[in-house]
Amino acid sequence: MKRKKVKEEPTDLMQINNFLDYNKKLEVNDKTFEKLMFIYSIAIRELETKIEIMKDEFKIFYNYDLIDHINTRIKTPESIIEKMKKRNLSLNYKEMIENINDIAGIRIICPLKKDIFSIINLIKKLPEINILTEKDYVTHPKESGYSSYHLIIEIPVTLSKNIVYVKVEIQIRTIAMDFWASLEHKMKYKPEEEIDKKKSKEWINCAKTIQKLDNRMMLLNS
Ligand code: GTP
Ligand code: MG
Repeated sequence: MKRKKVKEEPTDLMQINNFLDYNKKLEVNDKTFEKLMFIYSIAIRELETKIEIMKDEFKIFYNYDLIDHINTRIKTPESIIEKMKKRNLSLNYKEMIENINDIAGIRIICPLKKDIFSIINLIKKLPEINILTEKDYVTHPKESGYSSYHLIIEIPVTLSKNIVYVKVEIQIRTIAMDFWASLEHKMKYKPEEEIDKKKSKEWINCAKTIQKLDNRMMLLNS
């Protein structure tokens, strides 16, 4: 059997102008917008499958629950536009593709803090995937108390005429971190009203309790 040679290098999403008019005004009901969102959704499907395989491999080979569960989401058009306006970006596709890195998002929830770092190492070993940025809010939580590990990666998406790199935001956190972040997000993140100072302090205290709990749980499981 003759093996296929490695095929063409993926190009940037910006480079496929057969269906994108880069300087066009961004319109939610436009076909271009729909096609782009479809491409982002394929990137999520591809990555989610790889992470699910990781989860299953650890269960079957090592009888270890490395990953508790995976959530994915595509940013809503309203939320994309709101973010672009907030950042004073021109409302066109070029600006969107280049600057909005969390259109495709995947969240990996694991039992223990040490699992976060195992998962990161496994993601870094995945062929094809490039790491663009890394933020370690696990070792250095945000002022709000928020803890998670963030990666912006690019993954090739194979279309009939092109192979394109698509950006995906990966958030990795423990079940306990997720518990805090989910509740806090509803109450505080992107607030409409001013935040009550006393409550804000209490959220930080809760985050610290959770950080201690994650460390204790890790020791119990070592
Ligand atoms: P955006 O917040 O998306 O504009 O991006 P950023 O450049 O500030 O990036 P960062 O990596 O700090 O945060 C990205 C995402 O992490 C957010 O969209 C949230 O999902 C999550 N996040 C960051 N900070 C907090 C926080 O204080 N509380 C909660 N609940 N989530 C947070
Ligand atoms: Mg975001």
